[in-house]
Amino acid sequence: NSMLSWQRTAFHFQPEKNWMNDPNGPLFYKGWYHFFYQYNPDAAVWGNIVWGHAVSKDLIHWLHLPLAMVADQWYDINGVWTGSATILPDGKIVMLYTGSTNESVQVQNLAYPADHNDPLLIEWVKYSSNPVLVPPPGIGIKDFRDPTTAWYTSEGKWRITIGSKVGKTGIALIYDTVDFINYELRNQVLHGVPGTGMWECVDFYPVSIYDRNGLETSANGPEVKHVVKASLDDDRHDYYALGTYDDKNATWYPDIPEIDVGIGLRYDYGIFYASKTFYDQHRGRRVLWGWIGESDSEAADVKKGWASLQGIPRTVAFDTKSGSNLLQWPVEEVENLRLRSKEFKNVEVKPGSVVPLDLEAATQLDIFAEFEIDKNVLENIAETDEEFSCSTSNGAAHHSALGPFGLLVLADESLAEQTPVYFYVTKGFNGTLKTFFCTDQTRSSVANDVNKQIYGNFVPVLEGEKFTLRTLVDHSIIESFAQGGRTCITSRVYPTRAIYGAAKLFLFNNAIETNVTASLKIWQMNSAFIRPYPNIR
Ligand code: FRU
Repeated sequence: NSMLSWQRTAFHFQPEKNWMNDPNGPLFYKGWYHFFYQYNPDAAVWGNIVWGHAVSKDLIHWLHLPLAMVADQWYDINGVWTGSATILPDGKIVMLYTGSTNESVQVQNLAYPADHNDPLLIEWVKYSSNPVLVPPPGIGIKDFRDPTTAWYTSEGKWRITIGSKVGKTGIALIYDTVDFINYELRNQVLHGVPGTGMWECVDFYPVSIYDRNGLETSANGPEVKHVVKASLDDDRHDYYALGTYDDKNATWYPDIPEIDVGIGLRYDYGIFYASKTFYDQHRGRRVLWGWIGESDSEAADVKKGWASLQGIPRTVAFDTKSGSNLLQWPVEEVENLRLRSKEFKNVEVKPGSVVPLDLEAATQLDIFAEFEIDKNVLENIAETDEEFSCSTSNGAAHHSALGPFGLLVLADESLAEQTPVYFYVTKGFNGTLKTFFCTDQTRSSVANDVNKQIYGNFVPVLEGEKFTLRTLVDHSIIESFAQGGRTCITSRVYPTRAIYGAAKLFLFNNAIETNVTASLKIWQMNSAFIRPYPNIR
């Protein structure tokens, strides 16, 4: 449908057509990044799930390969669901995934490459005695899914975790194994949080507390914190917490119980779900993949013949400066798509004003922006007890002393369509500044059948820091990273006027009391090559 074809992205991973959801089994092997994903080969809606497969040299340009696994056994005939890869010390790969059986029971299955000498890992073999795990006593037959990458215990065994729930408490079950065939269920869960419901796609990994280098999944010790992430089926967001892992007792506890898994921090305050990290041994980093669904109507997805993207893979590391959160940042390879750039230095944006940025086009961009508020204003402004939240405020149209200010992305000339990505600063009674980072979709499209929420959350801004943001724009996706990736917001938007050459970028400042000075560097982004691998099957 040519009406909707502009929504197709130019440098985000998508299959050629139909439905995609979770990232599965990402890994680097013999020179190639492998990406598998939940895929419906028959339609642009969820169903008939199999594993799609693609390879890349740089996580940006992709070659589609034949389906890696299809639903052809009693133990996965209702779906080859989400799973993870483990690379063994001898270099061999094992894949664990959830199968939905002929009776829709969730079981765990083992698969491995038919030929470890094939760098493309085209053929996959399912273990002859699958399933290797069935729901244990007390666990619902539909509450047992998405095994993680295995890590090594001090006892010399492999350990995995699998998401589940008991009543309304989301939990991560723990299994130990030596051969990936026989498993021992541990009495204690890795972790559980009351009220959070089913935990899908649990992830568990170490981060260095000293630097931004990635750590192999089995790394442990005093220089390490561990992240637990769960995708909450009930509210469709990915929550993480930092904490301490106790190898001996196979359990984990959060640094700050008030911001435990599912009740505290999110990877992303927009649309971002069922994510999964892997350790990239090629570049020594941990890379995060996240599924970005559509936020238009299902009817529109069927019409255009496809649904969902994957976000630009992000490196993820502990924020050694704030000490309270992770940092996420688009993998540096995306910068190879940068074409011409344009700089805007110290642009004065007066209270209540909108400033157009003169660009040749504004649909494929990498934007880096820094904002400063007048220091005297900051010092002299009255303190308030304002309880701000992005989603309950009046969005970017709000007028307050110190904000909002930021960008109007994918806007048309008349501003009938615009997606503001912005900061909002408050000064509390104790004199401390608090900053929020938001994306307002209320005017993102004149169409009615699309999500128009206002996304966002608090972002730590440390002493001496400017307000900084990076935003990637790719036709129908806007991914924004504030303060180096402390708070991230991904948004799918469906403008009807702000498309192709009619899409523009503006600065805006709705603060009443302060000028804002903005400096930007903006790159036009090339399209990535994402196409079938030539001459395969
Ligand atoms: C998450 C999820 C997983 C499941 C898969 C099925 O989006 O529901 O829990 O394995 O998708 O496609």
